[in-house]
Amino acid sequence: MITVLGSINMDLVTTTTRLPKPGETVAGLSFSTAAGGKGANQALAAKRAGSPVRMVGAVGDDPFAAQATAMMHVAAVDMRGVKTSPSPTGTALILVGGDGENMIAVVPGANATVSVEDARAAVGSMTRGDYLLVQLETPAPAVEAALDAARSRGVITVINIAPLTEDAARLGRKADMVIANETEFERLAGRDSLSSEEREKALLALNAETRQTVIVTLGGDGVVAVRDGKIYRAKGLKIEPVDTVGAGDTFCGYFAASLESGLPFEKALRRAAVAGSLSCLKAGAQPSIPQAADVEKEL
Ligand code: RIB
Repeated sequence: MITVLGSINMDLVTTTTRLPKPGETVAGLSFSTAAGGKGANQALAAKRAGSPVRMVGAVGDDPFAAQATAMMHVAAVDMRGVKTSPSPTGTALILVGGDGENMIAVVPGANATVSVEDARAAVGSMTRGDYLLVQLETPAPAVEAALDAARSRGVITVINIAPLTEDAARLGRKADMVIANETEFERLAGRDSLSSEEREKALLALNAETRQTVIVTLGGDGVVAVRDGKIYRAKGLKIEPVDTVGAGDTFCGYFAASLESGLPFEKALRRAAVAGSLSCLKAGAQPSIPQAADVEKEL
């Protein structure tokens, strides 16, 4: 069983031919809404990958709540840990440029009401060998409480240190496994502008110091990881991205689910990288998360 403690957002998406520079206005091409939020995206990805998944988080008492949770309900994610809070459902304002790259501003709303008590209650029913997957779009004290409680119960913990916050490096040290993009990893390693070789050395050094499994996602270049003193690399698919929103979340959910289902580490990396690539071929965070059968076809 995988428990995801994290954010649930309504994504408000505008596509443009290119992303604006600060202070610049560009013409929008289209507007759409889609279910999103790093926690919710990862929960849905893990479920589509085939694992039993429980979501813990918060939405508001408003029309966005039903839209933001609809795909998780349809996929039969266990939603009993999602509370309704007096704050509005979280929203993410997203610009997607012609090359599929994006800019995102998140308004936490109800996500900010996820409490230490919610986190402890969520982990309270977990048992040894279960997986806890967290990110940094819910309050740091709740994430920390979940990680601490999970550790004391023998639960396997995975943290995606996104988006980068001032707590990222500290909370990152508290999980068994860390998933970061290049920038997030540099924060964890305490070094900037790493070349590939330097990144691998930094991964080995971090693993030697903390014993943590650390995975760095590299966009179109796949992923590099360290586990038990050994470097692993995995490629995704060669694709022309349409929309990269949620690709990292798809990777995280598929990775956790692959391990949970007993796949060896290296195969879990490859399966998750392929799922992440496929998610870039469609618009929208949750609508673009591939089904397991589509991922298997590519493997
Ligand atoms: O990682 C993508 C997600 O980040 C979007 O769905 C958006 O809601 C923001 O949380």
